Amino acid sequence: MNTKPRKVMIIGAGNVGTAAAWALLNQTICEELILVDLDKARVEGHCQDLSDAAAYMPGMITVSTREASDCEDVDIAVITVSGGPLKPGQTRLDELTNTARIIKNIVPTMMANGFNGIFLIATNPCDIITWQVWKLSGLPRGQVLGTGVWLDTTRLRRTLAEALDIGPQSIDAFILGEHGDTQFPVWSHSSVYGSPIADVYQRKTGKALDKAALADYVRRKGFEIYARKGCTEFGIAGTIAEICRNIFTGSHRALAVSCVLQGEYGVDEVATGVPAVLAQSGVQQIIELKLAPDEEEKFRHSVEVIKANIARLP
Ligand code: LAC
Repeated sequence: MNTKPRKVMIIGAGNVGTAAAWALLNQTICEELILVDLDKARVEGHCQDLSDAAAYMPGMITVSTREASDCEDVDIAVITVSGGPLKPGQTRLDELTNTARIIKNIVPTMMANGFNGIFLIATNPCDIITWQVWKLSGLPRGQVLGTGVWLDTTRLRRTLAEALDIGPQSIDAFILGEHGDTQFPVWSHSSVYGSPIADVYQRKTGKALDKAALADYVRRKGFEIYARKGCTEFGIAGTIAEICRNIFTGSHRALAVSCVLQGEYGVDEVATGVPAVLAQSGVQQIIELKLAPDEEEKFRHSVEVIKANIARLP
């Protein structure tokens, strides 16, 4: 009988890290939660607080803090650290540079201490940091993935679900590419049980689906939330929990997450959002779709933008 507890280490106990801990705890996705943060007093406080909540869960869940280097037994390491928040006058590139420096400290230390689990990157810019973690870790690419456009995909499904009054799980629509401005919905493969989304939408609402407006709404959702509350946390926490659950259960479900591509979609040396089959080993395979010509063009553009930013990594 396998009684090994499932262990998730969350690196960075800020808004996203603590919300992810809360989601993992409430959905009882693992038996051991480990929080890592530079602010020792605060992270210990979070652990004590979360431990109180853990007592209400149906099973035994422990919440503790450690150094990131104490990671040999960890199954999934979720990276939520960030070099931000952005100060006035700073650009996205500044955020990339600061964040990438932190990652450069953490990942080699973890590898030197025997980490052999799965890295799940939620830190932005997600695709670029996913690629950086993969490079620094030297792990097989299946063991490194980013939350990427799965959150955007969920935002798209939820919005369509509300309009159609059909559960988001029954809406097969998704976003590919960068978790950022160059992402795009793949309308050519979007359906409800094989019926094109636009047809279902027209029948239900009597109106034509404004695909461009919907794509824009989804693309801007993160920024809109950020503008209102200064961060996004619960949505991304749900994304982290969902990905961890699919890994632990070995669901073999295909989620659009950020993966390192090695020839798939005709590209190399980049991480970006594509449908990936999740198993206990991580990304077990990448599904290659035949995209429509305009989608193909958008995918290439998205990859170029990510590559240009990878080239700027310190
Ligand atoms: C968002 C952050 C995670 O889109 O980028 O909510």
